[in-house]
Amino acid sequence: MSILIKNGRIITATDDYVADVFISGEKISSIGQQLSMPADRVLDATGLLVMPGGIDPHVHLDMPFMGTSSSDSYETGTRAALFGGTTTVIDFVLQTQGKSLRSALDEWQGRSNGNAVGDYSFHMAVTDFNERTRGEIQGMIENEGITSFKIFMAYKGALMINDSQMVGLMQEVKKHGGLINVHATNGDMIDYLIAKHRAEGKLAPLYHYLSQPEVTESEASARFIDMAHYTGCPGYIVHLTCEGALNAARNATRRNQNIFVETCIQYLLLDASLYEQNFEGAKWVMSPPLRQKKDQEALWAGLNQGLVQVVATDHCPFRWEQKLMGKDDFSKIPNGHPAIENRMELLFSEGVNKGRISLNKFVEVASTNAARIFGMFPAKGTLAVGSDADIILLDPHEKHTLSATTHHMNVDYSGYEGWELTGKVKTVLLRGQVAIADNACHVKKGYGRFVKRHKVAGHL
Ligand code: URP
Ligand code: ZN
Ligand code: ZN
Repeated sequence: MSILIKNGRIITATDDYVADVFISGEKISSIGQQLSMPADRVLDATGLLVMPGGIDPHVHLDMPFMGTSSSDSYETGTRAALFGGTTTVIDFVLQTQGKSLRSALDEWQGRSNGNAVGDYSFHMAVTDFNERTRGEIQGMIENEGITSFKIFMAYKGALMINDSQMVGLMQEVKKHGGLINVHATNGDMIDYLIAKHRAEGKLAPLYHYLSQPEVTESEASARFIDMAHYTGCPGYIVHLTCEGALNAARNATRRNQNIFVETCIQYLLLDASLYEQNFEGAKWVMSPPLRQKKDQEALWAGLNQGLVQVVATDHCPFRWEQKLMGKDDFSKIPNGHPAIENRMELLFSEGVNKGRISLNKFVEVASTNAARIFGMFPAKGTLAVGSDADIILLDPHEKHTLSATTHHMNVDYSGYEGWELTGKVKTVLLRGQVAIADNACHVKKGYGRFVKRHKVAGHL
């Protein structure tokens, strides 16, 4: 199968030019002006932007969490991602405390194998670091292609590990050429504030926000960064939300340390005033919570300063009936928010079209940097000869409205209901197949492939 994309404006993290792209099988085989080779299919991209497929390195599909499971399966979640221009996602395997990493991987493979529509990979969340776990790290990196290990500094009793486990894991991961991802918030302090609010009868979603003040994130981020400095292990802070935590990362650059920072689309666009409405605020109960306008400004600036390298989603959807588990107690509301389908178009409309970031920056933070940081570049994350033909065609002028009535995520509300966006993903190719065209998905469950990743360099 061959495809010729004609007359598109090609945008990568560094380039901007009009050309044709010829795809043979799963790969890009030629890029040039007025290519004339015969193709099975020709796509006219006149007036469209031709960009690498998006990479969302922070999603939770079909994940058991807080007494329920996130509502998108590998099928519905990766299909919804494709509709929005994201061709590859990285999900998190969660070790069960007392059990091995291998048994967790078996469990996640059982849910994902044969079910994904789009490509996916795994990070491994280490929730119980001990001598047995230590012995599994090298094999995960070298045999399974799982090169990044997540630690939670919160969710005590379920996912959180302590500082001594953190240091031990970092040393082992460093030794074998991996990377540590961290959910950096101070779990003990948060648990104290949750208990205090509950004891005072303060049970509305607003108190989820008030139980995780900025200091809980800035303190943990700084502590993590110090440990990463001590161990020399590359570190990646997931879902960073606020100015204080960003300043901790900024300080790391002052001592020549490489720390990668991810924020999520919701932290750039939404703020904590959404918690000031009764139970409706549960739609945005996530950890860390939404912050203030001044934090949004810091994050947009951080993108342009190169201090924030990735915009992800932390897609962790729960249907409304699941959110209702916490209707009488905010601490029982499953934490998470749906955005896997909306990330690229939101970032394009609110970021590029509103002049906050350039087109090249858009590609960099929505695709290329994640591919580089997590060991998938240049197969993923760019348009180049030899790269996977994961390509989106985006109309920069088309207007559309986000709504739960039209989205493809398995969740019955939208965090962005009624938002009018400019810029629409029209066509999506995944490894040389037209996956999305004419508002329909043309690849089946099982087409999505697990991406084994290579060791990380620790720098971009
Ligand atoms: O609220 C969130 N973020 N839910 C998913 C788990 C996590 O902390 O990433
Ligand atoms: Zn988290
Ligand atoms: Zn997450």
